[in-house]
Amino acid sequence: CDLAPLHTLGLRAQANHLVHFSDAQQLEALLREAERPLHVLGGGSNLVPSEQVDGTVLKVELLGRTLLGEDADAYYVAAAAGENWHDFVQWTLAQGWPGLENLSLIPGTVGAAPIQNIGAYGLELKDRFHGLAALSLEDGATCIFTAEHCEFGYRDSIFKREQAGRWLITEVLFRLPKAWQPLLDYGDLRARLEGQEITAQAVADAVMATRRSKLPDPAEIGNAGSFFHNPLVTTEQAEALKALHPGLPCYPQADGRVKLAAGWLIEQAGWKGRQLGPVGMYAKQALVLVNHGGASAADVAALMRAVQDDVYQQFGVRLNPEPVWW
Ligand code: EPU
Repeated sequence: CDLAPLHTLGLRAQANHLVHFSDAQQLEALLREAERPLHVLGGGSNLVPSEQVDGTVLKVELLGRTLLGEDADAYYVAAAAGENWHDFVQWTLAQGWPGLENLSLIPGTVGAAPIQNIGAYGLELKDRFHGLAALSLEDGATCIFTAEHCEFGYRDSIFKREQAGRWLITEVLFRLPKAWQPLLDYGDLRARLEGQEITAQAVADAVMATRRSKLPDPAEIGNAGSFFHNPLVTTEQAEALKALHPGLPCYPQADGRVKLAAGWLIEQAGWKGRQLGPVGMYAKQALVLVNHGGASAADVAALMRAVQDDVYQQFGVRLNPEPVWW
């Protein structure tokens, strides 16, 4: 079956088997019968599939969202893994439970969100996460993961490392504090909201406007959002680079390291808006790799290596890709 319409890069890709997973009861039969390896698919917005994907793709279509409870300080809201992330965020806002507005318009599903601890505009999923339920792809057992179990980091969790490929996340539980504080410190968010009443919906609208102004809509041009992580370097390395390149954006982290803007490094290396074969780095945001049509994973890998090599040559910094590769 054709994977091109099932992931946002829109690469040429086929899977041996595809199963629409809409009921947790399906798992037992699947574990008995399905051809291995098993690949769990959400919205496909952070994925580079090879031209021929072996085994079985499980497209997660579990639906449902509900207020599980509340206490004096917070609302506890649960959503099934197959729910569209952005629609879920908008629904929480409409219900009067703010807290996720800075994560508006991120493509993908609720179930995929914890895997790379999605983040944008000064907020990460981990800041609103309370727990998740997952099914073991080895024996079908249900397991509950707390934030501590997930070992969240910048665009990272245990599900991208030791536990990669071992779980199917079925449901995520969020803790949305009742004492709402708008987060306006990232980029031009505050400036965009100048003169307006600051509500959670207004913040969501500003985030959406910012994203639409620089990130390509996957419905129009294939992409997987940021293609590389923003690299983390030591303070010494950041200072040395800053001395040579005063324009370099640097963000000091709580752990003493410094995050550099990969988009800036790629732009300086001459790759912004430049193509290699059918793929290229987007003209309005150099960190986004785009498919101009007909590309395969091999084309993506070739461009990735060319960009990595040029950035390394110029700055001595190694860029790591953000998406998952099948
Ligand atoms: N920059 C350039 N040239 C470019 C792109 C960016 O010089 O072509 C500079 C900008 O001028 C700015 C800095 O880089 O000073 C940061 O740019 P931006 O605010 O666009 O954010 P980013 O660091 O490129 C990250 C996330 C995005 C997230 C935004 C907003 C990563 C890998 N990416 O991008 O997440 O939306 O911040 O919070 O951390 C994603 O993960 O898919 C994603 C889109």
